[in-house]
Amino acid sequence: MDAFERLVAGLDYPMYVVTTSAGGQSAGCLVGFASQVSIDPPRFLVALSKRNHTFRVAQDARHLAVHLIPQGDRELAELFGSQTGDEIDKFSRCSWRAGPHGLPILSDAAAWFAGVVLDRVDVGDHVAHVLEPVDADAPDDFDFVSFTDVSDLDPGHDA
Ligand SMILES: Cc1cc2nc3c(=O)[nH]c(=O)nc-3n(C[C@H](O)[C@H](O)[C@H](O)COP(=O)(O)O)c2cc1C
Repeated sequence: MDAFERLVAGLDYPMYVVTTSAGGQSAGCLVGFASQVSIDPPRFLVALSKRNHTFRVAQDARHLAVHLIPQGDRELAELFGSQTGDEIDKFSRCSWRAGPHGLPILSDAAAWFAGVVLDRVDVGDHVAHVLEPVDADAPDDFDFVSFTDVSDLDPGHDA
């Protein structure tokens, strides 16, 4: 449907780096398909492409970490959006620490939260992960990278 494709191409929304860890492996990728979906109880949905290295690691993970990227840190967006963990170790190329539940937390994030995965729903070429936030860190004010800032990036994997 051309009109639907035009509509979604014209949207702008925050971009996130979603990281996780399982079986001694860390993974993370740039994600635009994500949103809060409930206030009470708080719930957040993250859609991971079935082709991504991050999706495969996330299948065995109990938690995901969701980071906002500060405006101007295109390098971080590019590392997680245009490179794949199938080929490189992204975590040797950025600053991070082991956070709650063993999750890799990016030092340069504008803000982040960690969520426990309550449910996984196959929605097509992506799998939606329903998260309950369990830890978070956010300053009073922050800016963040949006889709229009990075829509020119070539994804490391086709969707
Ligand atoms: C603008 C943009 C938006 C993206 N949105 C998503 C998304 O919502 N979900 C997803 O799984 N991948 C998304 N990607 C693709 C992954 O970030 C990309 O393929 C990444 O290289 C996969 O890394 P991995 O194989 O290490 O997981 C997006 C990429 C770009 C450039």
